[in-house]
Amino acid sequence: MITKAPRGTQDWYGEKILLRRKVEEIARDLCNKYNINEIETPAFEHTELFLRGVGETTDVVQKEMYTFNDKANRSITLKPEGTAGTVRAYLEHSLYADTQPTKLYYFTQAFRYEKPQAGRYRQHHQFGVEFFGSEHPQAEVELILLLKDLLDKLNIKDAKLHINSIGCLTCRKEYNKVLVNYLEKNQDKFCNTCKERMIKNPLRVLDCKDQTCSQLVKEAPKTIDYLDEECKNHFKLLKNLLNNIGIEYVIDSNVVRGLDYYTKTVFEFINSEGFTLCGGGRYDNLIAELGGKPQPAVGFGMGIERILLLLEQNQSDLQIKKPVQVYLGILGDNAMTKAYQIVHYLRQAGIKTETDFLKRSVKAQMKYANKINAMYTIILGENEINNNKVKVKEMDTGQQTEVNLDNLIEYIKTKINN
Ligand code: HAM
Repeated sequence: MITKAPRGTQDWYGEKILLRRKVEEIARDLCNKYNINEIETPAFEHTELFLRGVGETTDVVQKEMYTFNDKANRSITLKPEGTAGTVRAYLEHSLYADTQPTKLYYFTQAFRYEKPQAGRYRQHHQFGVEFFGSEHPQAEVELILLLKDLLDKLNIKDAKLHINSIGCLTCRKEYNKVLVNYLEKNQDKFCNTCKERMIKNPLRVLDCKDQTCSQLVKEAPKTIDYLDEECKNHFKLLKNLLNNIGIEYVIDSNVVRGLDYYTKTVFEFINSEGFTLCGGGRYDNLIAELGGKPQPAVGFGMGIERILLLLEQNQSDLQIKKPVQVYLGILGDNAMTKAYQIVHYLRQAGIKTETDFLKRSVKAQMKYANKINAMYTIILGENEINNNKVKVKEMDTGQQTEVNLDNLIEYIKTKINN
């Protein structure tokens, strides 16, 4: 018998899935307020999309993708992140032809063959937002404000905004020269992947998870010191905007992100334990890289599991479960049909109602109603049907009220709305 899910995956049930849905509901509501539209892209894409989008020398592509050939021998990859698929959809459906900006949000599963640990899974969930069509740092600020709003609503106080600029391709050329000079001093000590990256894409050496490599790059030159005028101005404007609005941040040259598409601004919200809750940045070249007409873009992805971990640690008091409002107990087989009619009416009236379908004794049914914290209980037997009256018991107080069956829905509604 197979009773264990694959390593790095988990089942979602009970309180945990309710909490995830609650977080999603809050994020969705916020996107609505910011007038951002939802998009859902497939769980898998052509592998080529990620090779070109995420970058061939990234950890994600080199070590973590779930790639396989389908039955027609096409190379397919389960999506490791949400941006590349969203950009593909933006181009496929000519969303750029609409009035810009295009503002999209998504909830997606993402698959990465990583070493599982707290907050790191092989299948995880992301809430992401992507803005297309704005080259102004105001777009970054709008995303940061949305994230702040979301963290506030979730009552997550321990999350600091870290920002950095990694410049554009012109800055990168200059920076790469200096970085390679620095890396070459310890060339032999780096892992084989990094030795190759030094030649192909030196910036990626900075986010290698290998302990020796990360130790060796601690004093590496900073991208922010090699920005051209335009990138410098962009970063300055961003900082001014954040200062003027009163959003606190730290400039953190260690934030270089692990994906290749970023240009200029990169940012993360990190908690005091060094845990990255979400990350993103500008990616002005990705659309052209994937074959579209150049169009500036910026976005972020937030790991839902990491948020849930914090909420659980904080013993969040988010209202995740609406209690059962009425439990209708059935006394005797003859009451069953009527009981089901009443239950059906109550539910149609929007009242969360449960009844017995295990043919339990009335005593067992009431014990169960207690266990599920039902707000009101009713027992329906032949007597109640003949008199067209039931006793409604308020479980908190034990108080019982006789109610005519014709007025039951109104009565319950008034009680639960008070
Ligand atoms: P990322 O930083 O690779 O960026 O992932 C975004 C967030 O997903 C991370 O900050 C983290 O909270 C969460 N995450 C990543 N990997 C895992 C994992 N193995 N287990 C649990 N959570 C994880 C992106 O994916 C970009 N697409 C973000 C973006 C959107 N940039 C621009 N637009």
